[in-house]
Amino acid sequence: MTRGKQLYEGKAKRVYATANPAEYVVEYKDEATAFNAQKRGEWAGKGATNNAITAHLYPQLEAAGIPTHFIGQLSEREQLVKAVSIIPVEVVVRNVAAGSFSKRLGVEEGTLLTHPVVEYCYKSDALGDPLINDDTAIALGWATEPQLRRLRELALKVRAFLVPYFEARGVRLIDFKLEFGTLADGTVVLADEISPDTCRFWDAETNEKMDKDRFRRDLGGVEDAYAEMLRRVTGPAQR
Ligand SMILES: Nc1ncnc2c1ncn2[C@@H]1O[C@H](COP(=O)(O)OP(=O)(O)OP(=O)(O)O)[C@@H](O)[C@H]1O
Ligand SMILES: [Mg+2]
Repeated sequence: MTRGKQLYEGKAKRVYATANPAEYVVEYKDEATAFNAQKRGEWAGKGATNNAITAHLYPQLEAAGIPTHFIGQLSEREQLVKAVSIIPVEVVVRNVAAGSFSKRLGVEEGTLLTHPVVEYCYKSDALGDPLINDDTAIALGWATEPQLRRLRELALKVRAFLVPYFEARGVRLIDFKLEFGTLADGTVVLADEISPDTCRFWDAETNEKMDKDRFRRDLGGVEDAYAEMLRRVTGPAQR
C-alpha cells in the first residue's frame, strides 16, 4: 500500500490519501498533547502502541455489530481505513465521574455513575471541544437527528463490548471518546482511535491510572502504563 499525499496532520496522527479515493492511511505519531496542545510531549513507541491497541479492538467491534472505518494494520505505525467525512461531534461515554465531568459538576472523581452518561462535544480545537447538546448539533448542521440517534446507539454498543472486555483484563473503563464519520453512501461508521489517549483506564485492583492522565497530570510512568495497556488489551481474558 503506497501512501499518497498527506491530507491532514493532527496532534497524534497523520492522514494520507491512497490510490483508492475510498481509502486512507492513518499514521500514528509518537507525540502526545494535552489541554488543547498547550502541553506537549513525546515518547518512542507511543504511536506503535496506540496503533496496535486500536487495530486489536476494531475487528472485534466489527464482529460485535459496530461498523467501523478499519480495514487493516499496515505496519507498526500505520493502518488502512475507509475514508470518511468526520462528523464534528465527539461522543463521550462515561461510566465513572472523572476529568471535565467531575470539574464541571463538582462530583468527586471516581464516583460511580448509576447510568451511562453520553455527552456530545463540538470537535473544534479552536474552541477546546466545548460541550453541546443534540439540538445544537442539529441547529448548526453538524449532524442530523437520525445521525445523532445512531451515534448514541453505536456509542452504547461500543460500551457494551468494551466494559466487559476490559474488566476481564483487570481494567476499569472509566470513560471514553469516540469519533464517527459517514461513508460516501451515508452509512455512519466508527472512526479514529480507541487507545489510552482517548479512554480513561484504571487498574481494577489499585485504581491506578493507566492512560493519558499520567501525562496530563505529570504522574510519571506514562510509557509503562501505555505498554501495560497494550499487554492487557492483546492478552487473554483473566476471568
Ligand atoms: N477514516 C477517517 N477518514 C477521515 N478522517 C479521519 C478518519 N479517521 C480519523 N480521522 C481524522 O483524522 C485526524 C487524526 O488526527 P489526530 O487524531 O492527530 O487529530 P487531532 O490532533 O486529535 O485533531 P482533531 O481535533 O482534528 O481530531 C482527526 O481529525 C480524525 O477526526
Ligand atoms: Mg485525535
